[in-house]
Amino acid sequence: MADHIDDIDSDPLPAGTLALQTIAMPADANWNGDIFGGWLVSQMDLAGAVTARRAARGRIATVAIDSMAFLRPVPVGAVISCYTQLLDIGRTSMKIQVEVWISDHNSNQAKVTEGIFTFVAIDGTGHTRPVPKASAN
Ligand SMILES: CC(C)(COP(=O)(O)OP(=O)(O)OC[C@H]1O[C@@H](n2cnc3c(N)ncnc32)[C@H](O)[C@@H]1OP(=O)(O)O)[C@@H](O)C(=O)NCCC(=O)NCCS
Repeated sequence: MADHIDDIDSDPLPAGTLALQTIAMPADANWNGDIFGGWLVSQMDLAGAVTARRAARGRIATVAIDSMAFLRPVPVGAVISCYTQLLDIGRTSMKIQVEVWISDHNSNQAKVTEGIFTFVAIDGTGHTRPVPKASAN
């Protein structure tokens, strides 16, 4: 957990449901001592996959990542929380918004990344299959 987050942005609350929490480790840091963007994208992909698998009730694959934004650096030791929101369900695809937030010891929170991930429901052979009706986040 970060000791203190300066300059808290104005987003009042995370959008969506908590899908994944983890801690940013020293091995995930870049040459500046901040956490690699690629590691964050990987956590976001996992968080989106948790939500997509539930909605698809089975196997899924990531097919696209749209509109990634890195809003502020993430320090080593930060608790990162990934929130997901199912934006849209197509025939076989699911569009999921993923936000990553960090928090400090005073429960201040700051959004560090956001992105839109598209997952596709697939069968055991890797072919697309319809997302079951009435799927929700
Ligand atoms: C996922 C995969 C099976 C889809 O096969 P495909 O032949 O492209 O399937 P389709 O063209 O029928 O598209 C399937 C759905 O994905 C959507 N889609 C495909 N490409 C997309 C893209 N670039 N952006 C957004 N949506 C996309 C289509 O609109 C369609 O949605 P719908 O059924 O809800 O209308 C195939 O692309 C694949 O195996 N990709 C590799 C996946 C992977 O390895 N991911 C990383 C590890 S999980």
